[in-house]
Amino acid sequence: MEQKQARRGDRPAPGAFVTLEGIDGAGKSTQARLIAAALERSGRDVLSLREPGGSAISEKIRALLLDPANAGMGDTCELLLYEAARAQLVHEVVGPALAEGRVVVCDRFYDSTTAYQGFAGSVPREVAERANGLAVGSCHPDITLVFDLDPDLAAARMAGRAGAPDRMEAKGLAYQRRVAEGFRAIAREEPGRVRLVDAAQPVDAVFACALAELASAGLPVTAEAAREAIAAVGWERA
Ligand code: TMP
Repeated sequence: MEQKQARRGDRPAPGAFVTLEGIDGAGKSTQARLIAAALERSGRDVLSLREPGGSAISEKIRALLLDPANAGMGDTCELLLYEAARAQLVHEVVGPALAEGRVVVCDRFYDSTTAYQGFAGSVPREVAERANGLAVGSCHPDITLVFDLDPDLAAARMAGRAGAPDRMEAKGLAYQRRVAEGFRAIAREEPGRVRLVDAAQPVDAVFACALAELASAGLPVTAEAAREAIAAVGWERA
């Protein structure tokens, strides 16, 4: 905890890799902004990323993955494109940032592949996990927060959003239910790294729970930093 805080004249704080997961509409992206802002205001050098994306090549792959015109994409192609985007992100961005002692906050990472392509899709789980391993090598999250929300509630929240659903959102409610179950299973299996946060609460209560989990993983933020983050990010939804 304390030793992870950057202090002038001291050894630099080691990097930390935080990943945020959840079904579509769980409010994860708002929490990502709040968490990054609070860590920054607590003196950490934060890099915020999203998956798929976060590098020029990975953003191009993202566009392919989410384009509703690619409805004919097969499950193996889908799996490999997510892994290709991830491999490039780790190689070009995450690895170097962690080596510099930065805190990387990534909106989704390999647990999304296990939950979406594995649990909800047709890819056997062990294949998804082997593909994850190929993409990331030794680059694993230090802590993963899963924002857990009833898929019916998430669908109702998303119905209020502008724009047509992307290719993944268009897979429907039954798919999202399997994804949610997948994330819960991962959290049960890896309680040390993966923490469930009840995302049905008001945004500030979800944020408080997320901060408590981060503190327990050695990434404390001050109460003042949390207040400032809320003021800076505001309450608009992602
Ligand atoms: P986003 O909407 O959170 O930006 O994520 C894009 C979509 O891609 C979302 O529906 C989740 C999905 N996804 C997967 O299916 N597998 C993955 O490995 C990742 C990172 C995202």
